[in-house]
Amino acid sequence: MADQFFDFAALQAIERYKLLCGIVVPRPIALVTSVDARGRVNAAPFSFFNAFSEDPAQVVLGLQHKPEGGPKDTTRNIARAQAFVVNMVDEPLAELMNICATDFPPDVSEIEELGIATAPCRHIAVPRIAAAPFALECKRIVTLAFSDTREMLIGEVLAVHARDGLADPASHYVDTGAYRPIGRLAGTAYCHQGEVFKMERISYETWRQRRNNR
Ligand SMILES: Cc1cc2nc3c(=O)[nH]c(=O)nc-3n(C[C@H](O)[C@H](O)[C@H](O)COP(=O)(O)O)c2cc1C
Repeated sequence: MADQFFDFAALQAIERYKLLCGIVVPRPIALVTSVDARGRVNAAPFSFFNAFSEDPAQVVLGLQHKPEGGPKDTTRNIARAQAFVVNMVDEPLAELMNICATDFPPDVSEIEELGIATAPCRHIAVPRIAAAPFALECKRIVTLAFSDTREMLIGEVLAVHARDGLADPASHYVDTGAYRPIGRLAGTAYCHQGEVFKMERISYETWRQRRNNR
């Protein structure tokens, strides 16, 4: 059977979305908390999300506009307050995360509506979700708009709150077995963390020896 070829120039945006979301998987989920001008706390999930560097420590969010037009509450809130929290999503938080994606009107706080317990941050005036395994305090660095329907936002991580037992305070290693994050696949499909396997990286010298021994 012949391979399929998808030329993105010939595809509509929704078709590119379906392909990219199905191919680049699993994606971590940022349950972002942000605050509006009246102090209402908003929570919404974003899986066009990842960490891209540690010096400076940066995360990126892909913020689409609402289907009816205009920025999502999260986008507007971060532009105003210049700060946000990335609450990571583990298995116990999965269902709550999904309900936070409901198109609540801008004047409805997901935090209040769903009775989500929050805790304060130290560097920013945005609360974090108390039950999150990790919460990243972030300040907005730059927002890039490549079209009038979406923005790419780069934030700097100022601090991390870790639930007890997940990150070693001396070695700074995270206990991947205890963390249990969920990942987003395409559409309504999600995944648990599956079986973990390890691979040691090898030097070029080791590679050469292996090759010569063949
Ligand atoms: C798992 C998941 C991932 C999502 N990822 C994104 C994303 O990366 N970018 C985006 O604009 N919307 C994403 N959404 C949709 C938003 O969460 C949704 O539009 C939400 O209502 C926005 O809320 P807000 O207007 O309060 O910011 C995602 C939804 C789910 C359930």
